[in-house]
Amino acid sequence: MALPHSSPFFHLLLAFFFLWHLPLGFSDQSNCQAWLVQSIPTDMPDLQLVPGVLSTGDVLQWLAGNATKSLDLTVQYWELLAGPNDSNSGDYGYSEAKMKKFGADVGREVYKSLINAADRNVDIRIIQHSGLYPNYVQEASDLAAGRTNVKNITLLLKNWWGTGIVYSKVWVSDNKDIYIGSANNDWKSLTQVKELGIYLVGCTKIARSLRHYINNLWILSTLNSTDYTRTIFDSQWQASRKVPCWSNFIPKEERCRPPLHPARHVPHVNGYPIIEDPATFDISIETPGMDASTASSDLSYLSFSPPELLFHNFQSDEQGWIETIKSVENGGTVRISTMD
Ligand SMILES: *[C@@H]1O[C@H](CO)[C@@H](O)[C@H](O)[C@H]1NC(C)=O
Ligand SMILES: *[C@@H]1O[C@H](CO)[C@@H](O)[C@H](O)[C@H]1NC(C)=O
Ligand SMILES: *[C@@H]1O[C@H](CO)[C@@H](O)[C@H](O)[C@H]1NC(C)=O
Ligand SMILES: *[C@@H]1O[C@H](CO)[C@@H](O)[C@H](O)[C@H]1NC(C)=O
Repeated sequence: MALPHSSPFFHLLLAFFFLWHLPLGFSDQSNCQAWLVQSIPTDMPDLQLVPGVLSTGDVLQWLAGNATKSLDLTVQYWELLAGPNDSNSGDYGYSEAKMKKFGADVGREVYKSLINAADRNVDIRIIQHSGLYPNYVQEASDLAAGRTNVKNITLLLKNWWGTGIVYSKVWVSDNKDIYIGSANNDWKSLTQVKELGIYLVGCTKIARSLRHYINNLWILSTLNSTDYTRTIFDSQWQASRKVPCWSNFIPKEERCRPPLHPARHVPHVNGYPIIEDPATFDISIETPGMDASTASSDLSYLSFSPPELLFHNFQSDEQGWIETIKSVENGGTVRISTMD
């Protein structure tokens, strides 16, 4: 994942996990399909796209290209447009030919696909972190400028948790097609950095759950965090921390009603309990890019962080990782793609 070096303590992460596979021998009507998606740096002839795996640049253009009604994006930062002529940009000074060789065109194509979707009057919602020097959220602002169908908000999680950023990279198109992965809205994330994600097509149930989460982030961005946060002493980490007022870190009787939905009362524990039974989707997911040909019913779930946004319903990212590792059978292999 491409991101700045000052890695904050809490990232707003989001992952998608398959729990297990139950061969049922029939195909679900929803016809939800999944492909792995990757980015491979250009100029690495020995590192080819894995057969059956799609490229990030294509998938992002398809999501925008196929959108007829809505497009929801969570974005850490924007740099789809390279800046070889901008002396403040890391791209400065590279020739036109060099930029082409680096694959900068793909970023421009993805940005163009967003503009085209905006021009088709697709409702675009962007939830972003504050972005990076030198252009910060300019690309989103340009997209929104003069268009009532494009809404761009900057959500500063620092105001809610004392630290942290919107870190998830999610695209949801027409409430059914989805990208979840590591690629930023950065041309380098398409052609200069190794990235991994999943492309889900026709997956309405999963999209609905994602929208629910995104809607909550949207609400969060509209609230005055001063009114909805408290500073607590976290005895596990032996540190004072700012948390939302509905956090489990606050004694139950002092907790506020979460202004986000759904609100569920949970017993007070110091920190958060492991969720053994996250809300799961029992849907058949076809994987046309893989050899596995039999249709199967899969239990899957979405995981999120931080815990104040799980509502005892979604799984936490941390637990999702642990379960994925533990799900590997004896003598099996777990492959982990990580940044640091
Ligand atoms: C829509 O998505 C499919 C793959 O899911 C892709 O083949 C097609 O080119 C996309 N259409 C547009 C207009 O982007
Ligand atoms: C940079 O400047 C050159 C020369 O003026 C121009 O041909 C090129 O299109 C510019 N590139 C970008 C990305 O703006
Ligand atoms: C959203 O875009 C508009 C129009 O360009 C801009 O005025 C506004 O500052 C942007 N908002 C954020 C939060 O970036
Ligand atoms: C947020 O609430 C605080 C305290 O209630 C108030 O002082 C501040 O002006 C509010 N900020 C905004 C942007 O409304």
